[in-house]
Amino acid sequence: MLSHSVEEGPLVNRFRACWDELAPVGRDAGSGGYLRYAFTPPELRLRDWFRDQAAARGMALTEDGNGNLFAWWGDPGTGDAGSDGAILTGSHFDSVPHGGAYDGPLGIVSAFLAIDELRAAGMAPARPVGVAAFVEEEGGRFGVPCLGSRLFAGAIDPDRAAALTDAAGTTFAAALGRRPAGARPDLLGNLGGYVELHVEQGRALAEVGAPVGVASAIWPHGRWRLEFTGEANHAGTTRMADRRDPMLTYAFTVLAANKEARLRGAHATVGRVRVEPNATNAIPSRVTGWLDARAAEPETLTELVAALRTKAAERARRDGTELVVVEESATPPVAFDTDLGARLARLLAAPALPTAAGHDAGVLAGHVPTAMLFVRNPTGVSHSPAEAAGDADCAAGVRALAEVLAELACR
Ligand code: GLV
Ligand code: MN
Ligand code: MN
Ligand code: MN
Repeated sequence: MLSHSVEEGPLVNRFRACWDELAPVGRDAGSGGYLRYAFTPPELRLRDWFRDQAAARGMALTEDGNGNLFAWWGDPGTGDAGSDGAILTGSHFDSVPHGGAYDGPLGIVSAFLAIDELRAAGMAPARPVGVAAFVEEEGGRFGVPCLGSRLFAGAIDPDRAAALTDAAGTTFAAALGRRPAGARPDLLGNLGGYVELHVEQGRALAEVGAPVGVASAIWPHGRWRLEFTGEANHAGTTRMADRRDPMLTYAFTVLAANKEARLRGAHATVGRVRVEPNATNAIPSRVTGWLDARAAEPETLTELVAALRTKAAERARRDGTELVVVEESATPPVAFDTDLGARLARLLAAPALPTAAGHDAGVLAGHVPTAMLFVRNPTGVSHSPAEAAGDADCAAGVRALAEVLAELACR
């Protein structure tokens, strides 16, 4: 049972006490990384922890029918949001396979601790402040990143979301226990802004020696499923000239993705692959690879994917294989609210930086003024157990978020 007391003492100690409650949940003893997929026991435990944190602070809890949780300081339902609307802050609990500790949970923990700071300073919300836990941000279980925030914002058809399946064939609707509710204009229309705090997923803050930064933009990015089909046959008896081996087309395509991305200053990764039948002594019948591609400009991303499709198709002809490319998700470029970003960078005396990582804030930015704070990551590594953040920097992040909330939402 996780404790749910609101700790006392210096902020850095309170951060550590809170963080220690979450640290064992979903941690793989072998890799030291996290396996916190949406609606699996570790993530459900974190959701319970969220409810306990809200209850310990007397914050009202709401759910949006899409799996997203909200805890409110100030009542969002009484209209005291006024014309400015509520300010939402938060992040996600789910992880990539063997992901780091901070990606996601840091934003939620920091949100609760920032509210504690404001309360301890005698502040009250002039507009409601909500802490959000968005579901399936990584797309680690159902394949579409930011699924919870996309549903909340009406950026994905709920029927499509409902039918998404995990590796075991369980649908998102079954995991959620209902058909997702989809867009919640009633909740979204009542928001006046979203501020997400996140661990930095690069080395920019470490290089400039700043504990906290403000995000300026998110690169456009997407995921494509590449299905290479050939002919299964005996590895020993099939003459080399007679083969239709999809592994060759796949291998060529992975190298071509790397080359085409480098040529354009873009990023391309094939981090996941499935081979059928997956036998050492059989030529595969099918190889499925998942391409993740990102670029600073949408045109560059479009060109990169088009060039790769052409090259892979040519290679498939040579190999006697077939290639089908399915776009699984696409996220347009996000420019965070420039006024809000500039205001926060001034307030915090923090550097502004763009990122190529996706976030729920990128989805919300299409609907409400949105900003992100990044906390320094000394390794610069993320989506890996090597992801890091120092306790003092995390406390600085909480303080920065508290300052932001004081500026935007308190009296
Ligand atoms: C999510 O973190 C992503 O950028 O893929
Ligand atoms: Mn992530
Ligand atoms: Mn994240
Ligand atoms: Mn992300």
